[in-house]
Formats: sequence, structure tokens, C-alpha cells
Amino acid sequence: MASEISNEFCAILDFGSQYSQLIARRVRENRVYCEILPCSITARELQEKGVRGVILSGGPCGVYDENAPQLDPEILGMDLPVLGICYGMQVACQSTGGAVTPSTEREYGDTTLLIDQSDNPIFYGCDEKLQVWMSHGDRVNEIPDNFCAIAHTENTPLAAVFDPTSKFWGLQFHPEVTHTQDDGKILNNFLYRICRFTGDWEIQDYVTRSVDEIRETVGNNRVVCALSGGVDSSVVALLIHKAIGDRLTCFFIDNGVLREGEAKQVCDIFQNQFQLDFRFIDATDRFLERLAGVIEPEEKRKAIGYQFIDEFREAAKQFTDAKFLAQGTLYPDVIESVSPFEGPSATIKSHHNVGGLPEDLGFELIEPLRFLFKDEARLIGKELGLPDEIVQRQPFPGPGLGIRIVGEVTRERLATLRAADQIVRKELQEWSRFRDIWQGFAVLLPVRSVGVQGDQRTYDCTAAIRIVESTDGMTANWMLPPQEILARISNRICNEVQGINRVVLDISSKPPSTIEWE
Ligand code: XMP
Repeated sequence: MASEISNEFCAILDFGSQYSQLIARRVRENRVYCEILPCSITARELQEKGVRGVILSGGPCGVYDENAPQLDPEILGMDLPVLGICYGMQVACQSTGGAVTPSTEREYGDTTLLIDQSDNPIFYGCDEKLQVWMSHGDRVNEIPDNFCAIAHTENTPLAAVFDPTSKFWGLQFHPEVTHTQDDGKILNNFLYRICRFTGDWEIQDYVTRSVDEIRETVGNNRVVCALSGGVDSSVVALLIHKAIGDRLTCFFIDNGVLREGEAKQVCDIFQNQFQLDFRFIDATDRFLERLAGVIEPEEKRKAIGYQFIDEFREAAKQFTDAKFLAQGTLYPDVIESVSPFEGPSATIKSHHNVGGLPEDLGFELIEPLRFLFKDEARLIGKELGLPDEIVQRQPFPGPGLGIRIVGEVTRERLATLRAADQIVRKELQEWSRFRDIWQGFAVLLPVRSVGVQGDQRTYDCTAAIRIVESTDGMTANWMLPPQEILARISNRICNEVQGINRVVLDISSKPPSTIEWE
């Protein structure tokens, strides 16, 4: 599939490193298209994909571990430049007759790299003494005859090696992390000076190619799409619409747990502004019925998730010519599924499919964003004229406000939370750091407390304010807006929202808390 997107691309073979995605980011920042592929890929498969350079990632194993992932040794005989990073260096050296010393001690953190072969193209423009980031236990201690050492550190004599015959460069340190203070030169040198990429990959290329590819795949058939108004599904809908026009049918299912004004906003944009074949389904009553009496968070998630699937199935049934289902799957999710290691992140994320659709609906999947990172999807959205309110939208969970009302979800409580949440979101826009906020919202707690309003005693609920910054939602830090913003939020909620007489600020990070309360 890769080579259909670009005929000039860099392959990153994933040996399970936490940094594999970071390498991909860095490569794309150099305007070179790249993909992360399983380390088990063979030289032949790589050849068929038409790669121009290969990067071997690091990984958590030792090369002598029982199930240590191996490299197809023929990859080093492909006459293609290969860059091995950390484990990638070790596995390549080992497979060509070198030796790796297992070690129980890790070398971790900043280290000074002393470059011994400064005219090697990989180090072009670098200082001969360079701060680099190390994170390894084992190290290469013997290299085959045709290899040479090109840099060392105090503890690691073979910190960088080079084999002119196989065009292999091995680095024990991590050039992809910003702690390596080479201004990105090492990766840039590998891509431009060694692989000879031209660096002309642009997001527009992705749009053009992906539109062509969608047309070819879909032919005269119909595509259906569950449009939520989030960035991913919106971009997918516009991209497919650009390719096949009215043969795309989008369903927007109002599950009754959306935020204030959200349904209307999404309808206005896609129905009126972009004139998509857009079907609005107001399923509020059915969702709320299913949620009646449900208190336990996982039960709530399931109730909302299953009802969503039922609604979509019912809506799509009338389109007998619908062969494809469009999904807004992004690259990080794809990478997780190809990675040879099931990291803990894979498990934490599984519940996030709630609000999505299962694979067995009987459609073929179309996932045009599956090679993109979130910010790249945003760029495409911009390119396709998607308004900022969608492009910059904060993530909103599939189960919606249902998991922000602690306790039973009722119409009344939804109205209360909507009003409070709207105030929080509106007032946060006044903060100079608004763009740094990953999510900022209100949660309705069933805790009632005594208050006084005018001369009246009140006994009402509590709203918690949750504001976090994060890069991917997997970890998050709580944020503290200026006092005057917090004061306005609190005053407005207590004065304007019936049913709330107390506002508290959630100052927990993830971990140990999660972003959502349920
Ligand atoms: P947690 O609460 O697990 O959330 O820290 C991390 C991020 O994921 C979002 N989230 C979801 N998104 N369906 C979604 O589409 C879900 O079921 C779901 N649960 C959590 C959450 O808003 C945050 O951005």
C-alpha cells in the first residue's frame, strides 16, 4: 500500500522502540515520506515497495534474547543506504559477523560523542564534539573487517560505525531525540546526502495521490461514513467527497450526549457549506433510553457504543450499493497494530474504540489517513477548506458527555452539564495559552452541597473543571489558568447554571488519573 502513496520513500523498520514514531516524525519534517514497517519485513518485500533508504529503529530487547527480533540480512545487501539506531545498529552488526556485549548496566542520558571520521557524510556540518542521547544496555564491541569506527564516547568505543560496502551506518545513540544536539543534521545528512532524497514531499501530494487512490479503489460503488464532526472523520469525509462526490454518504448520529450547539454546527458545515450527502439522525431518545439507570462507567460506555453500532447499521442498510466504510484511523493506531510488541499503550487504548464501529459490519474499509499523524490530518483539513473550529477542535470522546456525568445520565443533568461546559470552553478561549490546551471541559459530579444564593439556601451539585495539556492523550498534565479566568468560570457557572452551586478544579495528571472521569 505504501508505494501507492509515494514512489520515493524511506522505510523505518520497527524493532519495538518507543522512539519509532519520533523517527518517522523527524523524517517527515525533512519532507521525506516514510512509513514504519514491521522489522520482520524481507529485503524482497522492501524492494517491491520501492524504498530509497532504510532506518532500523531501536528496541527493548537484547540481540541475544530468546525471541529477539532479527533483521533479514539480505537487507544489508540491497545496495540501499541503511541507518541502524541503537538496537538497529546492534542487530545489523551481529548479523554481519560482529559481536555485541550483553550488559546489565544501562548507559542512559547525555553523553559526549567524539567524532573520529569528521568527513563521513553522516556527520557533515556537525561539531567534532557533540552532545548525544544514549539509552542502551548492550553495545557492539566487535565489528566485521569491512566496518570502521567513526565516533566514540568515553564508555562506548564503537558509538558510531560505517560499512562502505553495504552502505550501512550504525549509531549507538539516538539522533531522533532533541537531546542529541546536532540540530537534526545527522538524520538530515542520511536522508539528503546519503539517500539522496529531494525533500519535496508535501501534504498536497498526499491529497492528490490519495484522491486518485480512492477513485480507483471505489470505482462506481458507494462509501458510507460515520461523521462525528471530529477532525479525523471530517477530514476523511472531505477527502472522499473530493474523490467521488455524491457517492459518499455521511451519517451524523446525534447520540444525545453531544455538547451545546455541536449537532447544529456540524450540520451547518457539512450540509450547507460543503453540501455533502449528509444524513442527520436524531437518536437522542433511543440513546437516553438505553442509558436509563446505568451508573457504572464501563456499562455506560458499552450502552453508548452498542447503540451507536445499531444506529449506524440501521441507517446504512438502505444503501444496498454501499460497499465501503470510511474510517478516520490515524497512523499511531496503525503502528500499534503492526508493532511486533504489544506495549502497555495498546491495552490502555482499547476502550477508546467506544464510539467507533466494529470491523464486521460487512464493508470493506477505506482509511485514507492511515499514514498520517494528527497534525498532518489537520493540515489536510485546512487544505480542503475545513473551518478552524473543526480543524483545531479538541478531542471529544465517542461516549461524549455520558462519561462526564458521574452517575446516571438524564436529560436534566445533560442540560446542566452542557450549560457549565459551554461556559468553561468559552472562557478558556480568553487565555493566551488556549492553543496549548489538549482538552478543557466541565464534569458534573453527583456530590451535593449546601450553598447560599441571594437569601436562599441551596443544596445543589458540583462541577469539576478539567484542563490538561498532552501530546497524544496517553499522558497528560493538569493546567492552571490565570486566577481571573478561573474566577469568571466559577462565577458564571454558579450564577447562570441552575443546579450547580459549587465549582472545583481537578489538579490531577495522567497517570495516575485519566483525562476523562469515567
Ligand atoms: P483517558 O480518559 O483514557 O482519555 O485518559 C484519553 C483520551 O482519549 C479520549 N477518550 C476517548 N475517545 N472514545 C474516544 O473516541 C472513547 O471511548 C474515549 N475515552 C477517552 C479522551 O477524551 C482523551 O482525549
